[in-house]
Amino acid sequence: MSSRDPSPIAQRRTPLIARLAYGQLALAALAFVAVPALALKKAYSPDPVVVANSTDESDSDEGDTAAASTDGALASADPIVRGEALFGQSCAACHQPTGTGIPGAFPPLAGSDYLLADPERAVGVVLHGLVGPVTVNGVAYESAMPPMPLEDADVAAVLTYVLQAWGNQGPAVSADTVARIRAAGPKS
Ligand code: HEC
Repeated sequence: MSSRDPSPIAQRRTPLIARLAYGQLALAALAFVAVPALALKKAYSPDPVVVANSTDESDSDEGDTAAASTDGALASADPIVRGEALFGQSCAACHQPTGTGIPGAFPPLAGSDYLLADPERAVGVVLHGLVGPVTVNGVAYESAMPPMPLEDADVAAVLTYVLQAWGNQGPAVSADTVARIRAAGPKS
């Protein structure tokens, strides 16, 4: 009455082991396919808020992420649109794409009391950099920001954007104001 299974364990073992091995191969293959696929998806995501470096002006980095739309934004006559593209190019790496900064390292621009208290001082920061202790929203920073190699109109556009983005309610900055502050030179 013992109806024996025609496929005993011994016969199944080899395929099982083989299947395990294939499973690992499949995982490895998945990793090879999925990781670049995710990277590509990120690189080609059609997000209009572009923080990539474009190929014109300061093209020190290989910023190929949606470079075309950044170029378009940089050519825009609207200072906010241009300023946003410039921000992505020149400031976001440190101050972060939404201006939050990084606690302890880079002060915030979003809601920064230091920025909003004196926008002309901020022009000087962008033109000449900032070294040494600075307190932003009650947090002390003892770091250094390099001078930004931007033309007057670009400093004006990026600061107009920063002063009005993320809930900031600052004034627009004109290229003439930037030119005047540049001519006055860095404060000792
Ligand atoms: C390489 C990193 C870096 C880049 C790029 C950079 N900053 Fe800064 N920024 C800093 C650091 C660090 C400080 C604080 C310096 C200190 O401790 O004295 C600072 C301070 C500031 C401040 C004054 C403090 C505050 O948070 O309000 C402003 C305004 C500012 N940056 C604006 C800009 C703008 C606009 C750009 C782009 C045009 C820019 N920064 C690019 C690092 C950077």
